[in-house]
Amino acid sequence: MSSLATARDVRVIAHRGASHEHPEHTLAAYRQAIDDGADALECDVRLSADGRLVCVHDRRVERTSDGRGIVSAMTYEELAGLDFGGWKGEAHRGAQVLLFEDLLKEALAADRPVGLAVETKHPTRAGGRLETELVRVLREHGLADGSDGRVEVMSFSRNALVRLNRLAPGLPAVYLIERAVRPPRPPFAGHAGPGIDLLRKDPGLVARLKAKGLRVRVWTVDEPEDVELCLRLGVDTLITNRPREVREYLRGR
Ligand code: G3P
Ligand code: CA
Repeated sequence: MSSLATARDVRVIAHRGASHEHPEHTLAAYRQAIDDGADALECDVRLSADGRLVCVHDRRVERTSDGRGIVSAMTYEELAGLDFGGWKGEAHRGAQVLLFEDLLKEALAADRPVGLAVETKHPTRAGGRLETELVRVLREHGLADGSDGRVEVMSFSRNALVRLNRLAPGLPAVYLIERAVRPPRPPFAGHAGPGIDLLRKDPGLVARLKAKGLRVRVWTVDEPEDVELCLRLGVDTLITNRPREVREYLRGR
């Protein structure tokens, strides 16, 4: 296959939305990512104290809001009272925490198919409640059987993926890899997701993962030299904070 065909075939996923430009995990970041041509939207989900799935990366709210506290100890109403935009600059002040369900509706309302790559954060702490709630919400929208491949679940926790696989066997799953571990095997995950730092140190990892029958997606790929490395290695999907730039780079190649 020529490198041009490869570049065109690579999927681009917006990491926390177009999060280089906008505050991560906000509606504005995801709308921008859709406008930028992202194939799918990545989001981290956590459970609030009252059992709502919210899109927040950190365990605590301090870095990305004007509040203090642990996400799982706060109710949705408490989280909704915080400003999740001001930390990124005055222009973004007033952005609210995003419910996973609202993100789902936004993706479904787009005028082209836009996928969702949902990462469960520290699911073991919630003892299975997070996965159960995620599958419940997906089921409500007819998306839990995975038949259209629109929603994928991702986790660094093998247990979480096994649990999700039991609850919703058809959902495509991505096993995220932080350190060089023994490559995971299907069937509980069809994709593996190493970080770009790991790939720079161990480029042979992609071939080893592919030899196990896994597709490979890499996070977080923002720089042209990293895009090039991924293309050279035959990576299938790029997760990036800069969906527009990466999309344009791939187009121009
Ligand atoms: O998409 C995978 C990547 O998001 C994992 O790292 O810390 O950004 O959630 P993190
Ligand atoms: Ca993530």
